[in-house]
Amino acid sequence: MSDLKATLTVDGIDGAIELPVHEGTIGPRVVDVGALTANGMFTYDPGFVSTAACESQITYIDGAKGVLLHRGYPIDQLAEHSDYLETCYLLLYGELPDKTQKEQFVRTVHNHTMVHEQIRTFYNGFRRDAHPMAIMCGVVGALSAFYHDSLDISDEHHRQVAAFRLIAKMPTLAAMSYKFSIGQPFMYPDNSMGYAENFLHMMFGTPCEPSRISPVLAKAMDRIFLLHADHEQNASTSTVRLAGSSGANPFACIASGIAALWGPSHGGANEAVLNMLEEIGDVSRIDEFVARAKDKNDPFRLMGFGHRVYKNFDPRAKVMKQAADEVLAELGMENDPLLAIAKRLEEIALSDEYFIEKKLYPNVDFYSGIILKALGIPTSMFTVIFAVGRTVGWIAHWNEMISGSYRIGRPRQLYTGYAQRDYIPLDQR
Ligand code: ACO
Repeated sequence: MSDLKATLTVDGIDGAIELPVHEGTIGPRVVDVGALTANGMFTYDPGFVSTAACESQITYIDGAKGVLLHRGYPIDQLAEHSDYLETCYLLLYGELPDKTQKEQFVRTVHNHTMVHEQIRTFYNGFRRDAHPMAIMCGVVGALSAFYHDSLDISDEHHRQVAAFRLIAKMPTLAAMSYKFSIGQPFMYPDNSMGYAENFLHMMFGTPCEPSRISPVLAKAMDRIFLLHADHEQNASTSTVRLAGSSGANPFACIASGIAALWGPSHGGANEAVLNMLEEIGDVSRIDEFVARAKDKNDPFRLMGFGHRVYKNFDPRAKVMKQAADEVLAELGMENDPLLAIAKRLEEIALSDEYFIEKKLYPNVDFYSGIILKALGIPTSMFTVIFAVGRTVGWIAHWNEMISGSYRIGRPRQLYTGYAQRDYIPLDQR
C-alpha cells in the first residue's frame, strides 16, 4: 500500500472525499473507491475498462507496449523455451519447476487423463450435430456430479486434485466431443504421449491402427495451448472468479468460464475468423469486406483484428504467426486459398489508415485459426481448444482467490428505469 491519496469533490457533498491509491509491482496506479458507498455513490464503468476487480500475482499485461508476463516471465520466452505443462506449473505455483518437480507434475497430470466411464454414456444424451462448446459447457459442469471427493473448496488438497483433474481431463473431453459429432469411437488417452500429442491422438486416432503424430504438429498444438494459458482478468476468467466468489465448486466455475469464452468477441473469435474467410471466399472480394468493416452503418467487423487491451500489438500473435508459417511449410500448404485470403487481409489491415488509426492489429485468434485449420481441426472445435489451454489460467485465478481473502462479487448499477409507481389493475390498463 502507498501513502498516495486521490481527492474527489462532488457537488452537494461537503468537503473532498479522500481515496487511497494503490501501487502494484508494475502497471498503472489504482484508486481504491471502496469509501464511495459510505458517501452514497458508486462508480460507473461499463465493460470494466477502468476497473481493477481484484489483486493478482499471476499475469501482467501492458497493452500499450505489447507485453504479457506470466509470473514475470515474458510470453515469447515461455513459447520458445518452455512447454504447456511447465507453464501450467508456473501459473499454478508461481515458480518454474525444477526437474523433479516437473516430472512429478507431468506424471500426476497423466494419471488423471481418463474420465469416469459413465461420462462416455453421458455424451449420448446430446444430439450428434450439437456444437462442441455446448457439449463442453454441459460435460465440464457435470464433472462435479462424478468427482464428489474434490469439492470442498476450503481444503487445499481438494483444490489441488480438482486442478489436476481439470487440466488432465479437458483434452479427453474435448476430443470426445469431436469424436461424438463424427460418430467415431472415443479414444482412450495414451499416457506415454505428451499432452498435445495425446490430444491429437484422441482427436484423429482410431482403434484400428496406431496413431502417428508429427512432432512438428504436436509442438504447434502445445504452443497453441501455451499461448492461451492465461490472460489476466479477461471476460471468462472474471466470470470464473465471480462464480467462484459465491463458493461454487471448481467444475461448475470452469463450466461458467467455458460459457463466457464461447462468445465471438472472446474465444469464439478464432472460429469466427475461419467462417469469415470462408464467407469472403476469394481474394478478389477482400476489398468489399474491408469496406464493410470500415462502414459505420454496417455492424460487420473483421474477425481476428483488434483487442480490448493490446493497442500496439498482441505479443501472442507474433509467436503464433511464426508457428503458423512453420506449420504451413511443414504441411506444404503455403498455397491454400483460404490462407491466401488471410495473408492478404493481414497485409491490408496492417497498411490501411482505418486499422492503423484505430490500432486494430491481427490478434492471437487470427493466426491460431489459421494453424488449427492447417492441422485439420474442424472450425467448430477451435474455441474448445482455446478452452483446453485456458483451463489452467481459470484454475490459477480461482485458486488464488479462494486461498486468499475474498468476498462474494456483487457489482452495483446506474439505475435508469422507472422510479416507484403504483400497480394498475388489469381492467384499467
Ligand atoms: N473490425 C473493424 N472495426 C473494428 C474492429 C474490427 N475487428 N474492432 C474494433 N473496431 C472499431 C470499432 O468499430 C470502433 O470504431 P469507432 O471508434 O469508429 O466506433 C473502434 O474500432 C473501437 O472498437 P471497440 O469495440 O470500442 O473496441 P473494444 O476494445 O471494446 O473491442 C474487440 C475489442 C471486442 C476485440 C474488437 O476489436 C472486436 O470486436 N474484434 C473482432 C473480434 C475478435 O477478434 N475478438 C478476439 C479478441 S482476442 C481474444 O479474445 C483472445
